Amino acid sequence: MCGIVGYVGSKEAADILISGLRRLEYRGYDSAGIAVFSDGEIAVRKEKGRLSDLEEYMKSAGTPYGNCGIGHTRWATHGEPSYANSHPHSAGRVTLVHNGIIENYIELKKDLEKGGYTFASETDTETAAALLDRLYKGEPIKAIAELTRKIRGSYALAILFSDRPDEIYAVRRDSPLIVGLSNGESFVASDIPAVLKYTRRYYLLDENEIAVLKESGVSVLSLEGESIDKEVFEANWSLEAAEKGGFEHFMLKEIYEEPEALKNTISPHMIGGLPDVLNLSLGDKRLAAVNKIHIVGCGTAMHAGLIGKTAIEKLARTPVEVSVASEFRYVNPIVDKNDLVIVISQSGETADTLAALRLAKKMGAYTLAVVNVVGSSIAREADGALFTSAGPEIAVASTKAYSVQSAVMYLFALRLALVKGTMNENEVAEKSAELAAMPKLIERLIRDLDPTCKKLAEQNKNTESLFFIGRGMDYSLSVEGSLKLKEISYIHSEAYAAGELKHGTISLVTDGVPVIAIATQTPLFEKMISNVKEVKARGAAVTLVCRTDAAIADDVYDNLVLMPEISDLFMPLALAPFIQLFAYHTSVIRGCDVDKPRNLAKSVTVE
Ligand code: M6R
Repeated sequence: MCGIVGYVGSKEAADILISGLRRLEYRGYDSAGIAVFSDGEIAVRKEKGRLSDLEEYMKSAGTPYGNCGIGHTRWATHGEPSYANSHPHSAGRVTLVHNGIIENYIELKKDLEKGGYTFASETDTETAAALLDRLYKGEPIKAIAELTRKIRGSYALAILFSDRPDEIYAVRRDSPLIVGLSNGESFVASDIPAVLKYTRRYYLLDENEIAVLKESGVSVLSLEGESIDKEVFEANWSLEAAEKGGFEHFMLKEIYEEPEALKNTISPHMIGGLPDVLNLSLGDKRLAAVNKIHIVGCGTAMHAGLIGKTAIEKLARTPVEVSVASEFRYVNPIVDKNDLVIVISQSGETADTLAALRLAKKMGAYTLAVVNVVGSSIAREADGALFTSAGPEIAVASTKAYSVQSAVMYLFALRLALVKGTMNENEVAEKSAELAAMPKLIERLIRDLDPTCKKLAEQNKNTESLFFIGRGMDYSLSVEGSLKLKEISYIHSEAYAAGELKHGTISLVTDGVPVIAIATQTPLFEKMISNVKEVKARGAAVTLVCRTDAAIADDVYDNLVLMPEISDLFMPLALAPFIQLFAYHTSVIRGCDVDKPRNLAKSVTVE
């Protein structure tokens, strides 16, 4: 988490840093700060709260003018959000910003205190600044290399040395950094949107590399000080794609982008009407031999894995286990070298997912990443990658990424069914065509569902607790619906397998308690209606979501949402905008900060 940006060139650094931080605020917004070489000195401005608070503060404290600086937006880990804990942190000749966690900072701090250093903050970052100052004997590369040997944990650092004006140094481990390239100016940032306004060309900084940024250009060196040739990447995201494009919130824009994102994800993975999702190193032969699949991810990404599990087990009859990444690594997982481990991640930087991937690799399994960010750590470290083409997702609440991750799961399931022989070519082609037609259908559906969801949100805005119930894939979808609602509207919510309710949870269903019952899976429909009747009999206010042709008596629901005729298999793709728009409108009506919900950050790069 936390966003880092740095600029050196001939323009006003403060303006560029603030504009870059604005695009990184999704990574954390507990505080913001900048440090700029100004009149031969490093001037620091920082403030608790959002970037707008820093801007307000600079109106009175003054903007530091100069052409070289670093900036930071914080998601608090060590120490509460406060002025003292805000970055940049300075010690002696060093001023730096940091993303990540320095795990051994307490022992380092004790040692530094013995050496006379004092600390103003509770952060691990200030320890790194002090340690670097102690190691610095006028040779930045040597000092930074030594620092990387002494600190444990994850970090991305952008560093200024007071006696090296107009130079920025950057280094990383387990936290991302890109270096932006342009004529007469250089950039460093946690993510591409921060520099997109100025340049599309960039390097991906690797571990054990140190970038030196000057107005004249960038050099990348090894820890031993040897020059490294780097591949130049070209970002193909448009700036507008990273901005709101007329929508009130990024989340709404991103829901409306789902059809396009789905189209862009599905078409490149379809050849001759059949899904072609195979990375070169995982051919059909190896795939056919896979006995078991593990799907690992966090939050919404893991929920897309639940859709994947059902699709794979149903179509390819291959067992799948879905795990939360933060659990996977500590439960001594049983992973065989013939197993396939699929990790799902939008950002490609989620620390727990990355760690799970590394563990799976160590255990000898083939690892396949379903990931949105090309060049991210997960994309680079997995044996193979299937890219989702959602474009940048800025809102903390994941929406279009969920849809495209689910779509890739379907494509994968269909391919597996073909190579395993559980479906023939005609059957796979038929289902693939149905999947390829989904974006168009979803486009219309979003427009139809938007007002319905707004109305539902208005009805439920004051509720304290809400239940989603469903069976099969409807249950998997319910889990995501519940997460979305909690995350951005702060209403307590639970998702329950409808048949499991009466084993405990139904005791919470009393007069007027809202229940959203999703009943689109044909073979389970009658069972679902029985479960709906059970909650209705306890006074629940039921919103029933089912197919247009479903035979239902009107005394089982209070609200009815009808879904078009789509096969059971792909219904979650069509329902995703429903649960997302419902959460979105509820959040708006309750006056919550939709795109930046409290206590959260977009990219969770700490354990
Ligand atoms: O970048 P990732 O897909 O790895 O992120 C995983 C989760 O942190 C993420 O999906 C999170 O649950 C969303 N904010 C939920 O909307």
